Amino acid sequence: MHHFQYKQDELHCEDVPVREIADQVGTPFYLYSHATLKRHFLMFDKAFEGVSRLVCFSAKANSCMAILKLFATLGSGLDIVSGGELFRGLRAGFSPDRVVYSGVGKRVDEIDFALEQGILMFNVESMEELEVIDQRAGALGKTAPVAIRVNPDVDPKTHPYISTGLKKNKFGIDTETAFQTYKAADKMRHIRVEGIDCHIGSQISEVSPFKDAMQNLMGLVDALAEVGIKISCLDMGGGLGITYHDETPPGPDEYARAIVDTVKKRPLKLILEPGRVIVGNAGILVTRVLYRKSGKGKEFVIADAGMNDLLRPSLYGAFHAVKPVNLTGTGVIRADLVGPICESSDFLASDREMADAVGGDLLAVMSAGAYAYTMSSNYCSRLKVSEVMVKDGDYHVVKERQQYEDLIRGESVPPFLGTD
Ligand code: LLP
Repeated sequence: MHHFQYKQDELHCEDVPVREIADQVGTPFYLYSHATLKRHFLMFDKAFEGVSRLVCFSAKANSCMAILKLFATLGSGLDIVSGGELFRGLRAGFSPDRVVYSGVGKRVDEIDFALEQGILMFNVESMEELEVIDQRAGALGKTAPVAIRVNPDVDPKTHPYISTGLKKNKFGIDTETAFQTYKAADKMRHIRVEGIDCHIGSQISEVSPFKDAMQNLMGLVDALAEVGIKISCLDMGGGLGITYHDETPPGPDEYARAIVDTVKKRPLKLILEPGRVIVGNAGILVTRVLYRKSGKGKEFVIADAGMNDLLRPSLYGAFHAVKPVNLTGTGVIRADLVGPICESSDFLASDREMADAVGGDLLAVMSAGAYAYTMSSNYCSRLKVSEVMVKDGDYHVVKERQQYEDLIRGESVPPFLGTD
């Protein structure tokens, strides 16, 4: 359930008509519902009630400061993958001891930053990275808490670009090698073995891959116990899918039921890193139609938002529902909803049955709260759009639309190019 609903033929976000915001703020813009964000976070967290746990929202899904601040206030931790996400998280009010740090390519300066702040745990993805963390912790007079990210070789049955727990993926360390890596970690002077971690993929629509991964990790936890290495935290990563179209993913309750029993039997603290399931359906992209164009046997609706604003359709062939902001039109067309970018892959919807839309109409591209603004770019020197948050009858621009000057900030022309 989300708070983007029609009232008297007008799409509203909570109590605010979307058109009203579009008229004030201009298009395109991302629009987030405070009530939906809050509801999704609390529902997810509550699903694990009774289990020692920390839900670490995955910043990569949406790192808007207002959203991070909301989750920090609700008691969330944070899953990060870069120094930049750590910076944002700290500024938004997350306590560093609630931050977990994953990623195969952590740079030394990022490792130092995380060590200095005192994060909860590094999710280590290779032996070389472990050695660097040990060495940097030594140099800074710290002890680094680590988990090894295990690649359990399970098929999450999702888009190949977003599966991460298969042997062929670059992520994590296979179970056997992980055992050896733990033994090495246990001997390192500046490392403290804290946990075990996995993240098998994203937009997963059934529970069995999570269960399989959990079994795999438990085998390793037991094997480690036998050699005297104690694991305190079990980080199951993120990955729970949402409904974009006709998918029927398990809800947080079903997901929790599938994994908590195993955890409850042991003195483990459960860490979860949900991203999409919390924010995906809490945001939409609002765009205005510029032109209509009829090709030979093909109809195009040309909007002012493109692939640089929302990359998912172009990159993954992802489906995002497209709805008219005003429902009074009657006709239905089959068309491509395209943007202004000079690439044929610049579409938000392809060969889609949608409400007839003409120049000036507003459209809502649904389920655009996750991996949407965070994956946007300045391609074609297009300005990054604004982000707006609604709470009840109020709205606030939480990120301003860029201006032309922002595009060239930090650029300089070398003297050897001359002044005229
Ligand atoms: N933890 C780790 C280590 C991750 O790599 C990810 C996502 C998450 C947690 C959060 O996963 P979620 O709960 O959101 O599924 N850009 C793609 C999705 C990439 C996901 C990358 N990792 C998309 O637009 O579908």
